[in-house]
Amino acid sequence: TLALAHTREELADLLAAARRDGQRVGFVPTMGALHEGHASLMRVAAEHADLVVVSVFVNPMQFAPTEDLERYPRTLPADLEVCAANGVTAVFAPATDEIYPGGFGHETVRDGVTVAPGRLATILDGASRPGHFDGVLTVVAKLFGLVQPDVAVFGEKDYQQLALIRAMVRDLCMPIRIVGAETMREPDGLAMSSRNRYLDPGQRQAATVLSRALRAAQQQAAYGEEAAREAALGVLATEPAVVLDYLALTAPDLAEAPEVGEGRVLVAARVGDTRLIDNMQIFFD
Ligand code: PAJ
Repeated sequence: TLALAHTREELADLLAAARRDGQRVGFVPTMGALHEGHASLMRVAAEHADLVVVSVFVNPMQFAPTEDLERYPRTLPADLEVCAANGVTAVFAPATDEIYPGGFGHETVRDGVTVAPGRLATILDGASRPGHFDGVLTVVAKLFGLVQPDVAVFGEKDYQQLALIRAMVRDLCMPIRIVGAETMREPDGLAMSSRNRYLDPGQRQAATVLSRALRAAQQQAAYGEEAAREAALGVLATEPAVVLDYLALTAPDLAEAPEVGEGRVLVAARVGDTRLIDNMQIFFD
């Protein structure tokens, strides 16, 4: 049966016995509004651990004051069902005060100790969302400290986030294994996202242009980076309702794209007020 902890103390009590018995702890951090993409991470975590902990916490630090913190969906009862159906042992769903003692304020938090994500956080999503990855890495470092997992699973859907988590664990010497999990998609190719529920039917249809553009880039990558870029931009241009933020062709580590070999194609765009991201592996010849 699924255990639920709302406080750090309840979480510690839940994990004490498991840790005493030498069980390997797997961890999946989330912001809730769970879907099949999150569920797949829980199943991957179970392959690497004896028990799986999921956190559900809408982290205010990673939202700019202008962003969608207030309207972000909060669906804890349904989230618990998804966790129970996927073999999760414990859910940690803390109030903001548990993670930001004394309450959250952007300025208060920045007066204290936070995680500085470095140069990789200044490009792509980091350029469009200044401070976003400071918030992500700071909360993940806090959650790692509370859960003390052996292994933590993150989705490739948020590819730059996954790269930054790997960098944090390496650079701050955190003894945690990071596993990346592939992106789960709707039948029409749209990457699953908690934000998809903001889309009205017309926007939902238009949003399929993101994955179609990435597939076009994949197909044209045999002719080089420029051919791949033009193919993707051509597909994106067919949907005026989708406003491009960036399209980037890179190496797997987000450095400059190689002439030949494996790379990554990443896209971010706005559909109405909703910002969507997606990415795929690509091979240049
Ligand atoms: P959230 O957007 O809820 O995502 C939680 C995890 O689910 C992330 O690792 C994300 O990459 C993964 N995920 C989301 N959609 C996916 C999909 N379609 N297929 C596979 N995995 C998917 O990412 C966050 O929350 C937060 O930034 C967090 C890391 C929890 C820190 O607050």
